[in-house]
Amino acid sequence: MTRRTFLDISVSIMQAVVAGLCLVPVLRFVMHPLIAKKRGGGFVRLVPLSSIAAGKPQRAVVKADRWDAYIHYPSGPVGSVWLLRTDDEQGEPRIRCLQTTCPHLGCAVDRAADGNGFRCPCHDAAFDGDGKKLSGPAPRDMDELEIRLTEADAAGERWIEVNYQTFTTGIEGKIPKA
Ligand code: FES
Repeated sequence: MTRRTFLDISVSIMQAVVAGLCLVPVLRFVMHPLIAKKRGGGFVRLVPLSSIAAGKPQRAVVKADRWDAYIHYPSGPVGSVWLLRTDDEQGEPRIRCLQTTCPHLGCAVDRAADGNGFRCPCHDAAFDGDGKKLSGPAPRDMDELEIRLTEADAAGERWIEVNYQTFTTGIEGKIPKA
C-alpha cells in the first residue's frame, strides 16, 4: 500500500466516524415521539402516606412531565386519582388507587353526596366505596391503577407512587390509551 492510499483510507474512515457522530443527535430528535411512547408512564410520586386517613377516600392530583410531539412540558397536572386506605390488623397500610375519570364518557367521578361511594355528575353513574359499578351507564367499575409505597425517607416519611395511566371510555373493557 502506498503512503497516499493509506492516507486516503484513513481520511475516509475519519469522515465516516464524524458523520456517524453527527447523525446520533439528529436521529434521536427525529425518533423522539416513538422512543417516548415506548418508555410509557412509569411511577409518579403522589402524596405522603401519613396524609391519607384510613376509611376516608382522598383525591390526589397527579403531576408528571409531558411531551407533546417534540415539546417538553416540565412537571404539571396530568390527572387525578382517588386514594383508598384500609390498614390490616397489624396496622400495615393497604392503599388502592382509582382513576377519577369516569369509564362512561370521561367526566370526573366525585364522592357521593351521602358519603357512600362515588357518583359521576354527568349521567349519574354510581359506584360503591371500592369503585365497583352499582348503577348507571358506566360500562365497568372505576379503573384501578397500580401503586407502590417507597421506603421511609430521611424525615421518616413513606410516599405513595402511582403508575399513572388513562383508559378508553365508553366501551366494554379496560384498554390503556396510547
Ligand atoms: S361520563 Fe360518567 S356517567 Fe357519563
